[in-house]
Amino acid sequence: MKTPRFLAAAFTAALFAVAPLGAQAQAYPAKPLTLVIPFAAGGPTDLLGRALAQSMGTALGQTVVVENRAGAGGTLASAYVARATNDGYTLLLHHIGMSTAPGLYRKLAFDPLKDFEYVGQVADVPMTLVGRPDLPAKTPQELIAYLKQDGAKVNLAHAGLGAASQLCGMLLQQAVGAQSTTVPYQGTAPALTALIGGQVDVMCDQTMQTVPHIKAGKVKLYGVTTRERLKPLPEAMTLREAGLKDFEVVVWHGVYAPKGTPAPVMAALNTALKSALKDPALLKRLDEVGVQVVPEPLQTPEGLRTHLKAEIDRWGALIRQAGTYAD
Ligand code: MLT
Repeated sequence: MKTPRFLAAAFTAALFAVAPLGAQAQAYPAKPLTLVIPFAAGGPTDLLGRALAQSMGTALGQTVVVENRAGAGGTLASAYVARATNDGYTLLLHHIGMSTAPGLYRKLAFDPLKDFEYVGQVADVPMTLVGRPDLPAKTPQELIAYLKQDGAKVNLAHAGLGAASQLCGMLLQQAVGAQSTTVPYQGTAPALTALIGGQVDVMCDQTMQTVPHIKAGKVKLYGVTTRERLKPLPEAMTLREAGLKDFEVVVWHGVYAPKGTPAPVMAALNTALKSALKDPALLKRLDEVGVQVVPEPLQTPEGLRTHLKAEIDRWGALIRQAGTYAD
């Protein structure tokens, strides 16, 4: 029979054996994280997300697994992350669509300003206006003339209400003063495949995806949506130069966590984001497609939240003018 003294010693030994394990279990991150991407695999958000996941994973000392949850212009994934466990293991990378969704959807299953914690802004991705390879218009001016004259015959692809391609397409139709026939996809990866295959005519899409296809001659490039021309596509006019006054769309991105994620976890995530955005491999990859990492003061919770709020106000007004809604 074991003596009380033996039992006390065994109890003390067990305590010491368990304590370091307990401390390890609490150290964050103790297991792989998931970065949810709100669009189809292979598209611009996915490409940016995978590059970011790798660099953030290195900074955190953990794998960051990318999970695509496409649908409803990014709103399905946003609602999913808003309801996920708030322990720092489920994150969302989303773009400008987080700010257009409240204007576009009468009912939204999440509130961008109430249901998240904000890790920080990431990068600004330019867009290109591209057409199927055999579209007769040779220049942006010819395309604009064609859209004005025969808009309804033109199939304009986008990635759903709330996508950057949808916002850019909506602004394009407003600027041209003609409606086209819009064709939604679950992301611009399938939309670009349809464009290359000639099933749709034109679309706006981010350089993160389009640059290699433009360089390979698989799609026709009509212009870029930035104020200035882009280094990787110097021959492409801005749409302003082509005659669309004040036209500009830049796709800003942010990383989000569910509301209530503990402050020390959010601090660790922000440190990892800042470190990732200094990773030379990531910066090289982004530079090749004309993508700018945001300045460091914007790589912060406040930098993301303030911008998100301003963008919700800005796009809400424009969307109301355009009268575009989903129920
Ligand atoms: C995607 O990854 O498919 C895009 O970001 C969709 C879009 O917003 O146009």
